[in-house]
Amino acid sequence: MLRSKILASGMYVPPNVYTNNDIAKMMDTSDEWIRQRTGIEQRHWVDETTATSDLALKASEVALKNAGIDKKEIDMVILATLSPDAEFPGTACFLQARLGLPGVPALDVRQQCSGFLYAMSIADQFIRTGTYKKILIAGAEVQSKGLDRTPKGREVSVLFGDGAGAIIMGATDVTDAKKDSHVLSTHIHADGTYADELWAPLPGTKNPKYRITAEDVQAGKHWPKMNGKTVFVNAVKRMPEALMAAFELNKVKIEDVDLFLFHQANLRINDMIAKQFNIPDHKVFNTIQKFANTTAATIPIGMDEAVRAGKLKKGMLVASAAFGSGFTWASALYRW
Ligand code: UT7
Repeated sequence: MLRSKILASGMYVPPNVYTNNDIAKMMDTSDEWIRQRTGIEQRHWVDETTATSDLALKASEVALKNAGIDKKEIDMVILATLSPDAEFPGTACFLQARLGLPGVPALDVRQQCSGFLYAMSIADQFIRTGTYKKILIAGAEVQSKGLDRTPKGREVSVLFGDGAGAIIMGATDVTDAKKDSHVLSTHIHADGTYADELWAPLPGTKNPKYRITAEDVQAGKHWPKMNGKTVFVNAVKRMPEALMAAFELNKVKIEDVDLFLFHQANLRINDMIAKQFNIPDHKVFNTIQKFANTTAATIPIGMDEAVRAGKLKKGMLVASAAFGSGFTWASALYRW
């Protein structure tokens, strides 16, 4: 049975760490508020010289090294991000060029927090159909350059961090589904009627004349806007739905899952889902404390951290789910 599997992961976060107390010097917030409401303790933010493709490249190089393959074996590059290097071309093109893979297709996925699972789903289809044998997926974000770091930005800016994660997905012949590494299924969804509940309105062609003007910038129209409560309520509904779809399709019981690697928007969201499914604490791997919400980079960062922490081992059954702007949501069930 031809299936895709994850060959290896890699990650990279920029060295500069900002604790909640550092953030409290920029805006009216506190370590206590951020920890209690989100679980975040610190985040990594880039310096002025770093772009999203820089982070993606470093994470990709680690993933290639861990997979033990030559980069020339890569048939496709997919990059999930909401913080592109430039308006166009897609950031996957910058990454592909820097990896030195001219001619290989390069695809951007712009599904924000669900972007990495969307990318896994796309890669899984290309591999299952026999079109490609090895696909590099990176999730990378430089959030910090898109955050209002003045007192006006506190509702959003405390939540996000910079970083990148990457995996190599490869074709595999599955003979024993209970043992062999492979992706069992992916499930992707969206409901664009909620688009303006979490979005960055500008630059964009909804603007009357130019995609952005100096007045727009002065009015702060380029900063992300979020209705946090609506996002929260929908996240705790949609992520379990997407997980259930994966369990039902594959006839898997919750207790069969060895590790849950969720998107990291808020520790309270993940705790609520774990409680709803009766998942013991040791089976949920959270990274939000160290990295905050790194959007499309979150799940591959979680994978790589879990591997290095000895929590994610070959043969384990893993369930991932994500929810975010769009609204988009997704899940994936895979044997590592
Ligand atoms: O990756 C997907 C995208 N994001 C999410 O999934 C986020 C989902 N939403 C959330 O995680 C939560 O809604 C937040 C963490 C964003 C907010 O938590 P909350 O418990 O819903 O707080 P709230 O928005 O109701 O705000 C409570 C209070 C308000 O003050 P008043 O009106 O009670 O006086 C806010 O003005 O906290 C205030 N507040 C802050 N205080 C200190 C809002 N942001 C901050 C802040 N520091 N950074």
